[in-house]
Amino acid sequence: SDTTKSVDERLLSICQLLESHLEYYNWVGFYFANSDKKELYLGPYIGEPTDHTVIPFGKGICGQVAVSNENFVVPDVAAQDNYIACSITVKAEIVVPIFKDGKNIGQIDIDSNTPDPFTDKDERFLEFVCTKVSEIL
Ligand code: SME
Repeated sequence: SDTTKSVDERLLSICQLLESHLEYYNWVGFYFANSDKKELYLGPYIGEPTDHTVIPFGKGICGQVAVSNENFVVPDVAAQDNYIACSITVKAEIVVPIFKDGKNIGQIDIDSNTPDPFTDKDERFLEFVCTKVSEIL
C-alpha cells in the first residue's frame, strides 16, 4: 500500500508525474546535498541517464543553487558559462531548492528540450512541490 512506499519511491513517482503531465518537462530529478562534503548527489529521476551523479557545490546550475539558495531559471543553456551539459537535446533548465527546517538540503532539477519554456507559474508550482517534498523527508 501507499503507506509502505519508501521516500525514493515517492520521489520517483513525483518525477514520473511531472515528466508525463508537462510536455516541456523532459528530464526531472532530485539532487540532495551533503553539506560537509559540499557535494550534491543524484536521487530519483526520470529521463536520460546522466554521468553527473555527484556535483560539487558551485559547479553547474545545480551547484550554484546549492550555494545561492535561490531558484535558477535558464531560458537558454547555451548562454551559460557555468553549466554542466547532460544531453545535447537540452535547451533550458530550471532548478528550485528544497528547504527543510530553513536549510537548503537539495533541489528539483528540470531540463527542457524546448527553448525558454519556464515561467513564473513553473517557479511557483515547483516551490509548492518542493515544500510538499520536504514534508516527506
Ligand atoms: N545541467 C545541470 C546538471 C544536471 S543535469 O541537468 C541532469 C547543471 O548545470 O548543474
